[in-house]
Parts: sequence; structure tokens; C-alpha cells
Amino acid sequence: MRAAATDGTPDVAERDPRATEVVEFFDTTLRDGEQCPGATLHPADKLAIAQQLAKLRVDVIEAGFPASSPGDFQAVQQIAREVEGPAITGLARAVRGDIDAVHGAVRDAGRSLIHVFISVSDVHITHKLGLDRAQVLARTAEAVAYARSLCETVQFSPEDAGRADLDYLCEVVQAAVDAGAGVINLPDTTGYCLPHEFAAMVATVRREVRGMDRVLVSVHCHDDLGLATANSLAGIGAGARRVEGCINGIGERAGNAALEEVVMALRVRRPVLGLGDNIRSQELVPSSRLVAELTGMAVAPNKPVVGANAFSHASGVHQHGMLRDRRTYEIMAAEDVGAGETQIVLTARSGRHALAHRLDRIGVAVPPEQMPAVWARFLEVADTTKEVADDTLVRIVGEVHSYHTPPAVGPV
Ligand code: KIV
Ligand code: ZN
Repeated sequence: MRAAATDGTPDVAERDPRATEVVEFFDTTLRDGEQCPGATLHPADKLAIAQQLAKLRVDVIEAGFPASSPGDFQAVQQIAREVEGPAITGLARAVRGDIDAVHGAVRDAGRSLIHVFISVSDVHITHKLGLDRAQVLARTAEAVAYARSLCETVQFSPEDAGRADLDYLCEVVQAAVDAGAGVINLPDTTGYCLPHEFAAMVATVRREVRGMDRVLVSVHCHDDLGLATANSLAGIGAGARRVEGCINGIGERAGNAALEEVVMALRVRRPVLGLGDNIRSQELVPSSRLVAELTGMAVAPNKPVVGANAFSHASGVHQHGMLRDRRTYEIMAAEDVGAGETQIVLTARSGRHALAHRLDRIGVAVPPEQMPAVWARFLEVADTTKEVADDTLVRIVGEVHSYHTPPAVGPV
């Protein structure tokens, strides 16, 4: 069923060497993802996921929030010491204690960065922090400068940027850039923005803040309105070249942008977007399965890219099309995301082509004159069950065959 790259479908499995600009992926499954109820991970599980993320070739792993607990500090430190490839970071509020904790936890990594955040929307400044705008501005400058004295790369996130006053957001980002931040990550913390609004915010910050040509712009979108992937892509369209996300889209409330969705949108629509990335897409499904297993958060069957039904076809019309040419109903190949093969599922909505195809695949030959009876019996069985399994099919064929074949006459 795998289409060759010559069939007109873009070969999405590998990085396109012609793409001049690359979008980096910052995985926060182990920090923002782990913040969702019930998903707390043991340090050994965090390490196993980090190793898998390195195989997936994400550019940065946010391994945790080291100031939150001694256990998380140690987990981040172990990942920094043992996982090779991606840069390792941890999250810090804009206070020295948190910044020291991140520095201590990630300093042994091959590459590391310190991620500092503070809220910039009025509702957060007033009701969460109990500060005013001037105090947040001063804290930003102080915290980023301090982090920069410890680590060459500092990422600054103005939390709740999506609901902040745009002029004030630019002032805060200016302070962070002037204090030495090399990455500005713009979060839609509450998943509030519409794609065109989010794109306009990214474009405004890039245009209005001095020195942005030397800064990597990143986006971090939440999925409260189901717009996290769309907003991440809108941010990329406005010039962001790093995207934050979580495997399976887990995270606070409705979750973060699903990393696998953004990767495959970039790959499948590469002719339009023209951007490369460093991800090994065949590791997407193995990563999804590991995260689901270790967090205990099951993946919905209809989840894009990694759900069990993402490459399954059950209706006769679709199956007929797929059997002729997979491009009729698939825009990417199961193999390219590590999902094995496309599945033709036999149900009461399947057609004769799908039945014949399955019989052929499992090596069961049916004489042409018996096929109408096999088909009729198949439909009877299919109406009583969700999916007709291969062993049931073999039994149906056997029953029809013995009904049509007279018993052999033994010696008299
Ligand atoms: O959603 C958010 O704003 C965050 C920041 C800490 C980046 O997770
Ligand atoms: Zn977040």
C-alpha cells in the first residue's frame, strides 16, 4: 500500500534537503504535558520518554520544573546527564531560586538553556502575581540578565501573551531581548487566540521589538478551543521558527499543540510552506505509544496522525478507492509516521473488493461460484459484530465450502 515518492505524493519521511529554513521542535511533554491531572511520571519513566524524544530528534527537551520538587530536579539532572542529542532545559519563574535550580539541573547537558517566564496579561499581573506592569517589566530584565550570567542561551516566555496588551507585550519582550534573551517564546497560555490574531501578535513583536533579527521566535499554543495546531502554524507563517508542543497533545486542561500534528502539517504541506525540520517522523507513533503507556493517558482512536483509526478504512466506497490508489483517501503514508501499514477493516459497511482483497492477503482461495455465498454469509456475520476478524473469515469460507462440496464417497 506504500506509495513511492514518484507517485506525486511528497516523500514526507525524511527532511527535504532543499528546504533552506528549518522549524525547530521544542518538546514539553515532560513539563507542560506532565502538568495535566494524573499524568505525573516517575523519574525512570521521564528518562525513558526523553530517550525516545532523542530518537525522534526533537531539538529541545523541556525536562521539567526543577524548583517544583527535589524529585523533579533529579529527574531533569539525570536527563541532562544521560540523554544525547537535543538541548535540555527546565522551566523557571522569574526569580533567582528557580533560575539557580534550572541551571544546576541542566548544566551537565551537552547543550542546555534556561527557560524563564513571567505573566504579562493584566488579569495575570493583577490577580495572579499581585504586581503592576512596571514591576513585571523590572523583574523580566533582572531575571533574564541573571539567567544569562549563568547560561549562554536564555529563552524568555511572556505568559498569557495571547491576552496581553500588545504594546505592553512588546515592551516586556524588548526588556528581555535587551537583557540577553536569545529565544522569545510567545505563548497563547489559555488557548484564546484565533489563528489570524495569533499570527498578527507574532508579526507585531517581530516588527516592533529592536534586535529581533538576532532572536529565535518560538510559539507555544494551548488547545482550549481546538486551535493549538492551527495557531502554531499561523505563528510559523508569521515568522516563528520554533514550535513548542507535547506528544499526543497532552498538557494543562485541553492540552498543548500536538507535536505530531504540527510536524506532519509541515511535511504534508511542504510544497506550500517550504520549511524543513529535523524530526525523524517514523518515531512519531512509537513516541505516542510510549507517552500514552507511561502517563496512562489513552489516545483517542480518531486522533490525527497517531490514533488507531488514522490509517484505517472501513467503508466500502473508501476501501475500493484505497485499493486502487491510496492517495484517494490518505494524504500521508502510515509507514512515514511509524504506524505500520494502512488497515482495511472488514465491517458491515465494507464492500466485495475489500473482502476479496483480505481473502487474497490471508491466502484463502474461494472458487468463484462460492463467492456469492461467502459474501452473503460475511454480511450476516458482519451485522452482528464491529469487525470481522481473519479467523472468522476462514470459518465462513470453510462452512460455505463444506455446504457446496458433496462428501467424498468411501470404498464400498
Ligand atoms: O502556557 C504557558 O504560558 C506556558 C509557559 C510557561 C511557556 O506553559
Ligand atoms: Zn503551557
